[in-house]
Amino acid sequence: MRLILEKPFNVKQGKLYIEKVSCVELVENYGSPLYVTSLQALNSNINSYLNAFSKTNFDVKFLYAVKANNNLTIMRLIAKKGFGADVFSDGELYMALLAGFDRNYILFNGNSKSDEEIRMGVEAGVSFSVDSIDELNAIIRVAKELDRVVRIAFRVNPDISPETHPKIATGLKTSKFGIPWKDIKKAYEYAIKNKNLLVSGIHCHIGSQITDISPFVEAIKRMFDVAKEIEKLGVDIEFIDIGGGLGIDYEGKGAPTPSEFAEKIVPAFEMGLSSINSQPELWIEPGRSIVGNTTVLLTRVNAVKKAYKNFVAVDAGFNLLVRPAMYNAYHKVTVANKMDERESEIYTIVGPICESGDILAEDRKLPVVERGDIIAIFDVGAYGFSMSSQYNGRRRCAEVLVDNDRTYVIRERESYSDLVANQLLPVEFI
Ligand code: LLP
Repeated sequence: MRLILEKPFNVKQGKLYIEKVSCVELVENYGSPLYVTSLQALNSNINSYLNAFSKTNFDVKFLYAVKANNNLTIMRLIAKKGFGADVFSDGELYMALLAGFDRNYILFNGNSKSDEEIRMGVEAGVSFSVDSIDELNAIIRVAKELDRVVRIAFRVNPDISPETHPKIATGLKTSKFGIPWKDIKKAYEYAIKNKNLLVSGIHCHIGSQITDISPFVEAIKRMFDVAKEIEKLGVDIEFIDIGGGLGIDYEGKGAPTPSEFAEKIVPAFEMGLSSINSQPELWIEPGRSIVGNTTVLLTRVNAVKKAYKNFVAVDAGFNLLVRPAMYNAYHKVTVANKMDERESEIYTIVGPICESGDILAEDRKLPVVERGDIIAIFDVGAYGFSMSSQYNGRRRCAEVLVDNDRTYVIRERESYSDLVANQLLPVEFI
């Protein structure tokens, strides 16, 4: 399959460019491997969401899912566009606050929050999506102790099965997330009695990389069924949060745009609104569809070998991009310095990690590859760097942001001392 390049990528004199910057020069200047993000692509994704929902007759708020990409500059750029944030841990909350997300629109998600995390969230004044009654009781204890009123929603398990990888489908009845929707009324009944809680939202998230919009419509219907029930308890519903999950086009097979997404879910939300008295805002938590296609991973070829297969060994592995190894995920690849050459060979691209599962791309048709070439792996802006590790003593690489012809280092490559950071060698063992 010949690669079809879309903005911000283009080719000049046989070399891959991101906006007006050559990927080959980027590697020469900043080293390999290298994560490179296009500001133009990021802004375009953000604006697509803002435009798609600009004409609704109800309020819509976007809470960026920080887990997808928690680079501070990238988060700051998203926060400046008026997005709130979905955070899933104390660390994500810390980073989201640092990036300047509006704390009225930070939702502390998660199915297993410690007292320490709850305390941090309550002190910061953010809202909570509560995953269990155990967690609710812990929030009540902390709120009482700090004399605070905490705004909460319950995470509803809507029992909906989107077509996606089983590891990233989260709204199934068998999933660990949320309270089964049939038990949800009891949970609200219990919560509204407490004066340290402001019970004001309903939350769900059905999964990730979803390219068929109908499960979202189904989820919205379920949320309004819940809304009708809990209104009867006297709850004024301020927000209905349908989570994130809109997929992107990894394989060139197409994926709905935010405006196609809006076309289907706005009427479903309007229909729901007509069945209740409250006027909740619609909250959406996109992650992948904001950052996924903005970023490319550049990685240099260390060896080409004919064995059982034609292997191309590069300097990035599942330490820097775990999605192929973990979910069998497909990412387009190309040879960034040979864009005009004929694709004549079939190669399997593997990383430097000491595991046979360290495969980045399997059986891809590429031009003849040699040591020193630069492979570009596309669509790595979501769950790429944020899922990276130092396995095998590999330092995490640098990240660069490109804006037209300018480049900014937004994360430096780790140093060797980062590999032993926080470790102590007791004197007895020296
Ligand atoms: N909200 C909640 C509560 C979530 O759990 C997630 C993702 C999102 C929003 C954002 O979903 P998105 O719009 O990015 O699909 N590591 C996997 C994806 C895990 C998603 C976890 N939750 C991957 O690389 O495909």
